[in-house]
Amino acid sequence: MATTVLTGIKPTGTPHLGNYVGAIKPALALAETASKALYFVADYHALNAIHDAQKLRGLVLEVAATWLALGLDPAKVVFYKQSDIPELFELSWILSCFTAKGLMNRAHAYKAAVARNLGSRGGTASVDDMDDLDAGINMGLYSYPVLMAADILLFKTNVVPVGKDQIQHIEIARDIAQRVNTVYGPTLVLPEARVSAETAVIPGLDGRKMSKSYDNTIPLFLPPEKLRKLLFKYKTDSSPPSEPKDPDTSPLFHLYREFATPEETEALRGRYRAGIGWGEAKEAVFDVLNRALTEPRRRYAELMAEPERIDALLAEGAARAREIARVTLEETRRTIGVR
Ligand code: TRP
Repeated sequence: MATTVLTGIKPTGTPHLGNYVGAIKPALALAETASKALYFVADYHALNAIHDAQKLRGLVLEVAATWLALGLDPAKVVFYKQSDIPELFELSWILSCFTAKGLMNRAHAYKAAVARNLGSRGGTASVDDMDDLDAGINMGLYSYPVLMAADILLFKTNVVPVGKDQIQHIEIARDIAQRVNTVYGPTLVLPEARVSAETAVIPGLDGRKMSKSYDNTIPLFLPPEKLRKLLFKYKTDSSPPSEPKDPDTSPLFHLYREFATPEETEALRGRYRAGIGWGEAKEAVFDVLNRALTEPRRRYAELMAEPERIDALLAEGAARAREIARVTLEETRRTIGVR
């Protein structure tokens, strides 16, 4: 069966190793096997939180350059920016007319924001407090899942590679599509989430999952010396070098494995078992990481020096995406009685 793979990349921070191992690498591998792949920068999703024009522009360039530098081939993957596809916003409105408000009330991000407001009120509230509970929540956050459903459904997507935290959003997209299909007969394609099981969660400097919100990340394109310095900050215990160590519980080993050959991985496993000093382990991680990142680092710097090139690539991608988008939108308009 022909499969269309699509995913959105929210530009919210400087891309780090965890993004690469957990999202970028598996998505690029998946694109190789799909009959069609569409990857896009979700700048209008980021707008619900980033109200600084320069910052938004900068993050879009950074994230686009990162994917290109790490091997996204625009000849194989349709690569574009969400805001360049006007058809999305029309479909988004159409979908919102089939979306139960209650479904949005149950979306994790919205619920978390309400829970924070509830907490700051001491944990109790009545219907009269509704306005307070929604304090600081804009409609962009609230309708986030509808726009995301439009992102997916506009391209008749079959498979959406995402992290665990996005599964609910894919389910919401399915719900909305099903609702439309129930009313009009088969119209929209139901998407499926693909959470790659074997991608280990990359541990950050403190051993917790690497995440911007824990402030424990390693940015992808640091100069070698800075990368090395940061790697040496990985939290380790005080066991002496001679003591045998368990590779499987070692964050450094997990990181190593992602960038080393199977033979190198087995060799380091042996050194752990025999007893290895943490300094030596960190040096080994630096070597494989730096080897893998040298070329992408160079390409990234090249692209960032020429933002017009990134813009041009994204514009070409948008033109190709819109060819597909127009067809689905036109079909949907007819289906609902709008011509
Ligand atoms: N919500 C996703 C995130 O925060 C980004 C995203 C936007 C997305 N639209 C999408 C992902 C469509 C997959 C499909 O990471």
